[in-house]
Amino acid sequence: MRLSLGDYARLARERLDRPVWDFFEGGAGDERTLLANTAAFDRVRLRPSVLTGVTVPEPSTEVLGRTWGAPFAVAPMGYQTLAHPQGELATVRAAGPRGVPVVVSMFSGHSCEDLAAAAAAPLWLQIYCLRDRAAIRRLVERAERARFEAVVLTVDTPRLGRRLRDLRNGFRLPPDVRPANLHGDGFDNPAHHALSQFDPALNWDVVDWLRSITRLPVVLKGILTAADAVRAVSAGVDAIIVSNHGGRQLDGAPASLEALPDVVAAVGGACTILLDSGVRRGADVLAARAMGADAVLLGRPVLYGLAVDGEDGVAGVIDLLTDELTDAMALTGTASAAAVPLELVRPARPRESSPEAVEHHTR
Ligand SMILES: Cc1cc2nc3c(=O)[nH]c(=O)nc-3n(C[C@H](O)[C@H](O)[C@H](O)COP(=O)(O)O)c2cc1C
Repeated sequence: MRLSLGDYARLARERLDRPVWDFFEGGAGDERTLLANTAAFDRVRLRPSVLTGVTVPEPSTEVLGRTWGAPFAVAPMGYQTLAHPQGELATVRAAGPRGVPVVVSMFSGHSCEDLAAAAAAPLWLQIYCLRDRAAIRRLVERAERARFEAVVLTVDTPRLGRRLRDLRNGFRLPPDVRPANLHGDGFDNPAHHALSQFDPALNWDVVDWLRSITRLPVVLKGILTAADAVRAVSAGVDAIIVSNHGGRQLDGAPASLEALPDVVAAVGGACTILLDSGVRRGADVLAARAMGADAVLLGRPVLYGLAVDGEDGVAGVIDLLTDELTDAMALTGTASAAAVPLELVRPARPRESSPEAVEHHTR
């Protein structure tokens, strides 16, 4: 039975070779941040409003001028052909008709052009800034020509985090799994490739550079502090993604959900705020919205769906998350995902020991 995203995870684990499962599932170091991501959502308590008259909750919402079917999109994840031969093509085919945007990783196993031809919902391109800026420029230009709608620069990865599972497994990508949009070699070992090809000397000037080569909205992925969020706004980005990369980069970083309130307060509505890392249920999407995220990105569960059943599996994951979200909205009295009240998660005030209240109660 596939009744929760956890069910998809269990099925995917049975189907995938152990080193591939570990590559998908693992985090950096002792996986403290990986665990913190889901633990932070587990601690959230939703405070329902009753007798609200909400009959049919509306999950759609607007992000960067586009209507999304629900307040979530697919996070950029490289090498999806490891999970299923159709890889990213299956992902965009499942997401498109559901109005769910897909952030296509720079390490996609399918070309931007093929994905654009298959997609029916917005595609965004995710990039790591390589030392070879000309290669990045060509890729961004191709995506723009293929009508991608935003560029996401991942900023938490001057090199890959120490992923102990991959080191123990001696993980290498099989020869048929290669990035379709990049030339070169050395891709079989992602950690080595990043160390030699990613530009570790990036500073805030990169945002200006990116804006100089594209008219597309620029999104920064991997912001975890109020100070960096404020710098990102000053640099003129259109959106930020509060993310610790699913616990795969800095072990010891806060859960994204823990980092969110400070970022929301610091940004004060000056740009769109997205969040990823640890979203595993519809109620998690609702909680992130209530805490100030405009929408979230879904990572590993999409890979579980792909591994279990290709395009149908991804469709199943998206439909399940949407159903869970609308159930949670109905049960909390939330009419629209576009307007989720803060009160949904605000901790209840300490109980006031009002004598009248007690009197009233006992009368
Ligand atoms: C197998 C895998 C590959 C990933 N590849 C990329 C990538 O190419 N670019 C990127 O910015 N983030 C990448 N990420 C991170 C995701 O975009 C996202 O931040 C993270 O998975 C969200 O956490 P979640 O899996 O808990 O939902 C990858 C994550 C996984 C699990």
